[in-house]
Amino acid sequence: MDLSPYIAEAIKLLREAKSVAVLTGAGVSAESGVPTFRASDGLWEGHRIEDVASPDGWERDSNLVWTFYNLRRTNVSEVQPNPGHYALAEMEKIWGEDFNLITQNVDGLHQRAGNTRVWELHGALNRTECTGCGDIVDQGLTDLGTDPRCKKCGDLVRPNIVWFGESLPHEVWKKAQEATFLCDVFLVIGTSAVVYPAAGLVRLAKQRGDIVGELQPAKVIEINITPSDVVTYVDVGIYGPSGEVLPKILEGIRKG
Ligand code: OAD
Ligand code: ZN
Repeated sequence: MDLSPYIAEAIKLLREAKSVAVLTGAGVSAESGVPTFRASDGLWEGHRIEDVASPDGWERDSNLVWTFYNLRRTNVSEVQPNPGHYALAEMEKIWGEDFNLITQNVDGLHQRAGNTRVWELHGALNRTECTGCGDIVDQGLTDLGTDPRCKKCGDLVRPNIVWFGESLPHEVWKKAQEATFLCDVFLVIGTSAVVYPAAGLVRLAKQRGDIVGELQPAKVIEINITPSDVVTYVDVGIYGPSGEVLPKILEGIRKG
């Protein structure tokens, strides 16, 4: 399918935008070689993702949870940002403080590509959080074994990841909502948009005028290989790999 008319429409909307917010999901890292969650029936070695990414799963078997996260950590340590990540980093340079990248990803690839205004809704793979004293530490992406301990208090540490049933970090969520509320164009990229509250940002971008009368609904551009759950809010849908579509959009914005 020829995507160029949709790409042209996205470029036009972006060139008119004063402020841009982006929500990314696992799909933006797929071309780097990071597996998405819902591709293989949402299973990891026979375990439901929810079982290795929930407080219940952790209570039941913290060894299994650490095995899962060590694999994800080493996987991410071996991959590189792809052209989609780099295009988003270039866009931040264009819009500066009016460009906010909200991500559900925990792989740190946006920061490695050069984005600085990144709001990590679901935590980060490189950080651990002590189950005793709450200390949060950047441990890089090495394999930590299945019984990693806090250097301060000796208790077991867990991945600093927001699991199913847990709340999002308050300040980060506030920033994400603010950026969404203030943007003229909202890009939703590589997410199935089924996990809330993150997916609710798309609706917020569209319905901000219901809260402050004079605000127009933001224009929503979706980039995915297939329409997501929030397709009803999408003004322009570009259905192709983000690592190919985003550099084309960047090129078009620059040509202006
Ligand atoms: P999903 O695995 O649910 O969705 C990945 C999306 O990326 C799908 O919509 C794919 O169609 C799309 N996709 C795949 N390859 C792509 C490509 N090359 N270019 C563009 N799109 C592509 O991942 P998320 O939506 O990120 O939460 O999942 C949301 C949350 O659920 C995750 O943050 C994680 C997970 O469980 C926690 O860990 C708390
Ligand atoms: Zn501790």
